[in-house]
Amino acid sequence: MISSRDIISKFLNFFKKNDHLIINGSSVIPKNDPTLLYINAGMAAIKNYFTGDEVPPSPQLCNVQSCIRTIDIDDIGDRHHLTSFQMLGSWSIGAYFKEHAIELAYDFLVNHLNIPLSKLYVSVFNGEPSINLPFDTESKNAWIKVGIPEDHIVSFGMDDNFWGPASETGPCGPCTEVFYDTGIGPEYARGKFFDTKRYVEIWNAGVFMMLNKNAPGSFSELPFKSVDTGAGLERLSMTLNGLNSVYDTDLLLPIKNFIESKFEFENNHDRNVRILTDHLRTVCLILSERQKISNEGRGYIPRKLIRKCIVIAHKNKKDNYDLSDVIEFIIENFKDMNEKFSINKEYIVSEFKLEQDRFSDVIKLGFEKLNSGNLRRISGEFAFDLATTYGMPFEVIKDFAIEHRLEVDEKKFNDLIENHKKISRADSEEKVSENEIFKKISGIQKTQFVGYSCLEHECRVLKIFSEDLEELQTSIEGKNILVLDSTPIYARCGGQESDEGTIFGNNLDGVINLALKHDDVIVHYCDISSGNVSVGQKISVKVDKNKRVATSNAHSATHLLQSALKIVFGNDVHQQGSKVTANCLHFDFNCNEKITRDHIRKIEKLVNENICKNLSSKITETSLNDAVKNGATALFSEKYGDKVRVVSFGEVSKELCGGTHVSSTGQIGMFIIQNYESVGKGIKRITAFTSMKALEYVQSVMSSAIESAAVLRTSIEKLPKEISNKISFQKKSHTVKKIDTSSLTFIESKIPYAYKVFEEDFSSGLVKETAEKIKGVFVAISKDGKRISLAKCKKLDLNAKEILDKILQKLDGRGGGNSEIASGGVNSLLTEIISTISGYFHNCN
Ligand code: SER
Repeated sequence: MISSRDIISKFLNFFKKNDHLIINGSSVIPKNDPTLLYINAGMAAIKNYFTGDEVPPSPQLCNVQSCIRTIDIDDIGDRHHLTSFQMLGSWSIGAYFKEHAIELAYDFLVNHLNIPLSKLYVSVFNGEPSINLPFDTESKNAWIKVGIPEDHIVSFGMDDNFWGPASETGPCGPCTEVFYDTGIGPEYARGKFFDTKRYVEIWNAGVFMMLNKNAPGSFSELPFKSVDTGAGLERLSMTLNGLNSVYDTDLLLPIKNFIESKFEFENNHDRNVRILTDHLRTVCLILSERQKISNEGRGYIPRKLIRKCIVIAHKNKKDNYDLSDVIEFIIENFKDMNEKFSINKEYIVSEFKLEQDRFSDVIKLGFEKLNSGNLRRISGEFAFDLATTYGMPFEVIKDFAIEHRLEVDEKKFNDLIENHKKISRADSEEKVSENEIFKKISGIQKTQFVGYSCLEHECRVLKIFSEDLEELQTSIEGKNILVLDSTPIYARCGGQESDEGTIFGNNLDGVINLALKHDDVIVHYCDISSGNVSVGQKISVKVDKNKRVATSNAHSATHLLQSALKIVFGNDVHQQGSKVTANCLHFDFNCNEKITRDHIRKIEKLVNENICKNLSSKITETSLNDAVKNGATALFSEKYGDKVRVVSFGEVSKELCGGTHVSSTGQIGMFIIQNYESVGKGIKRITAFTSMKALEYVQSVMSSAIESAAVLRTSIEKLPKEISNKISFQKKSHTVKKIDTSSLTFIESKIPYAYKVFEEDFSSGLVKETAEKIKGVFVAISKDGKRISLAKCKKLDLNAKEILDKILQKLDGRGGGNSEIASGGVNSLLTEIISTISGYFHNCN
């Protein structure tokens, strides 16, 4: 047996000895590549080396890279498929080509892994005329030269022996693959049959990178030729150890055993254990990058995986869905292979548990709904409601139907879901159109951003596109998309919205409404009102300074906010999302505490103290390691380059950030929190204003408070108390339905006069009814004296309004009404009101 860890060290040592530099694997989250969900091959993380856009630290490299291939998600459960795996990769970036790559591959397999020659088969590319690629004779000859028998060489076309690109565009080329003969299954009949179950692929021993695929589907030559190799560690380990499944290797077997000991599976045992093993391992990997779980894109993958696991747990009649011990087991057992497992352990476990709880609640709610339905059949509409409102997977609904012998209208359900998707697709059109322009600019020279220090700059036009993305030589009036060699305009990035600005020069006049960035190329969405510009010409670009200043204020305030949150809620608080605009800022962070007004006051105080201290900003460039060592806050879901930009404000805040900032915190002027809310389990959002926006907000709140106090005839300070009295008074009012006449205070006279002080509110109807009941005059007085109602019984020849007016005159109040009933209010003490009323009635005798 050879352990997977030994295979890794053999591989790296072999290539190191053969003059390859060992580099670290990257995060599985691609940097600046919206077309790629997760890193899916070793080369995907370093693809700029192949295009010449970045210079590698050495022309010969090797590493181990964690990869995720979401395309296989629904196939998991058989012996070979995995959603994540580790790839052993080696590269020649413009150094050696086919022959030496094949010599190295042979040497490693035969002399270092000791695989018998008889077991090895290889494939080469058999050519494709449409892209001018002939049969790969060079590779075939190289294999024969090192010693592979000619009848062990097979050839395939584009589908099998052409690799890449990793996403929709990028470097690619013909490849040569190595297969291992397991001896189980039909034998290879030359030129006829090659059973890839018997002959298992163990190494893509060379993608010969020569072409760049451009959108839409055309190819161009790369500036130099390279070699990219990759071997899936799990599969290699399985083959070398003569195992039947990747799940029996030391990379997965311990997890599988742990899961088996935890569950007593009833149905489809092997498949379910494999799914749990694979999915939970991939979830660990994704969360170790501090990826947030969400409903779209990258964040949706861990959600989908976790939900599938919980459905399996549920089906196996586990009432307790807690799978977090599997997660902890994976972390503990594989932390030596992935240092982020240890660094982010707490995040991984807590994010997993949150999602698990969320979904367990969903399942519970869904079942309550299903059970309460007293159903004869489950209609498509009901299933749709369960799926979309309660998030219940259709699979679970179907199982419920089978178990309870119910029909379920799957067709209607599918129609409704399709329609629902159409609506969501329309929403994501904006994103699609962003991706369309990104495809068009792939491979273009990077834009030099000069806008940290200068707000106006002369720039050369490199490309012009119409609104419909047609490439133009000269701009047209109206909407154009420009790519420039350099720009002072900050493109939307890292949560900060884009600058706006103007373009001008040689009769040209226009505005820039938006700038977006992809792979360091910035596209400017412009509206040209007069004149035009052609590719190659120079134009002036000017940033809208007011918007820039407001946005920078908000961005710097976000950094001060994050540091205040760490003081108030502890160091575990991390940014979960952020949006910085000229008008306001949103900041999302993890926090399980309930946020109170006291917290908010403390946070505002801390941030404003740091604004008053007028701390200077310091911006430095350093290596990621040094930055993190010196305490800089980094987003672990980001892939950072070799050099990172660190933005600090005194000792208070130090963050890796590419955004624009104030030169000293005094410029922010003021920071006020407008709202705080929960935006998901354990995630809170703060919305805040800075500078003049903060002042405007405070002024509008003050005006409302002053007006409200005036209406309630009180001061701002007493407003809360006054309002709560009013509310409790009104609440109680509904309880007074009838009056017991024995509770009234009668004043001796010929006709009955009575009054009552009400703790609660009272209705005019009640006052009239009481007057009839006592056959006299009745006065209802609210406890605060602000409402007095007087009614007389119908038979009496008196005028209620006149009586009340007389009483109110003495109390300096005002009222209105008619002969039956009248109401008014005064600002006097209750005792004074009562004595005035009593006095009036006495005098009536
Ligand atoms: N990029 C190639 C692959 O993924 C070789 O590593 O197969």
